[in-house]
Amino acid sequence: MKNGKHFVIVGLLVIVSTIFLRWVFVWLFATPTAASTQAGIVDYMFGVHFWMIAFLFSLIMVMMLYSAFAFRRQPEDEEDAEHVHGNTKLEIAWTIIPIFVVIGFGIWGTIELRALTQPYPDEMEIEVIGRQWSWGFEYPGQGEFVSAEMVVPVNRPLVLRMRSEDVLHSFWVTEFRIKQDLVPGRVTELRITPSEIGDYKVRCAEICGTEHSGMLAPVRVVSQADYEAWLVEKNAAPQYVELTPEERGALWYSAEGFGCVSCHSTDGTPGVGPTWLGIYGRQEALDDGTTVTVDDAYIRESIYDPNAKLVAGFAAAMPQNYEQLFAEKQAEILATQGLEIDIVDDLIAFMKTLEE
Ligand code: CUA
Repeated sequence: MKNGKHFVIVGLLVIVSTIFLRWVFVWLFATPTAASTQAGIVDYMFGVHFWMIAFLFSLIMVMMLYSAFAFRRQPEDEEDAEHVHGNTKLEIAWTIIPIFVVIGFGIWGTIELRALTQPYPDEMEIEVIGRQWSWGFEYPGQGEFVSAEMVVPVNRPLVLRMRSEDVLHSFWVTEFRIKQDLVPGRVTELRITPSEIGDYKVRCAEICGTEHSGMLAPVRVVSQADYEAWLVEKNAAPQYVELTPEERGALWYSAEGFGCVSCHSTDGTPGVGPTWLGIYGRQEALDDGTTVTVDDAYIRESIYDPNAKLVAGFAAAMPQNYEQLFAEKQAEILATQGLEIDIVDDLIAFMKTLEE
């Protein structure tokens, strides 16, 4: 009966310790919002493992600490302790039970992994390109554009077909929980069904060089209507990466760009400002009596600070905010298409095509 008391106390302490430790794990390993249907099973499995770990740790530690306290040597006790040589039943039990538990978890994991990687009949394909150190997203069948952000409709099953242009990378949106490597020379797949509208972030989860930690891209889960609006906008936007600097320059020059055309002709006719026909390399007389050669530096200065050196015969009529406008446009193109351009360089390239 005396032993029975010890077992009851140990049993209660194990229960209390398990509940407490499981609470500590949930608090310590708190996860962000679950934003995909795949997140459910991942979080559930983590939850079961937390219970398991809390229980096993408690079982071992409570028994050890309790025994050390309850069965410690009493001051007057000088006798040798009872010698115990093995316990076959116990040893069989603590071998067999863990084997089945571990195999059980293995089977459960295999079944769930199979379910997570199963194709959906109506899944939408996105091609993901990973490189040192940025992400690119293409939408086969939905347009020719390349996006620097991943925008997807909510509740639509997605299949990401992922390629690396250089080394190993790994696609990981913590809110979606699941993760997949990008392996050079292979196409890897990841299936996600985003379930919560919101702004997230894909991070690279594989050390891939000095800028690894900066290999991030926005992931936006939006409504079906917002997604369609975004597609229309993406398809309407010029694909700057497919244009030459000269073509981009012509675009910036036009009314759709920055409207240089309204003051500068390309055929020699005079306007509010000097014609661009043959402008590159031309000698211009300035209103202060000096002469300047129209080179890259002069063009950049004349666009960013138009009144610094006025060509003789022309009034100070040009807006003075192009440096800011260009910077905003360049930032937008970098953010949406991942392309770094310099609009002044594009305009210079265009000017060079306008020879007399
Ligand atoms: Cu790509 Cu780390």
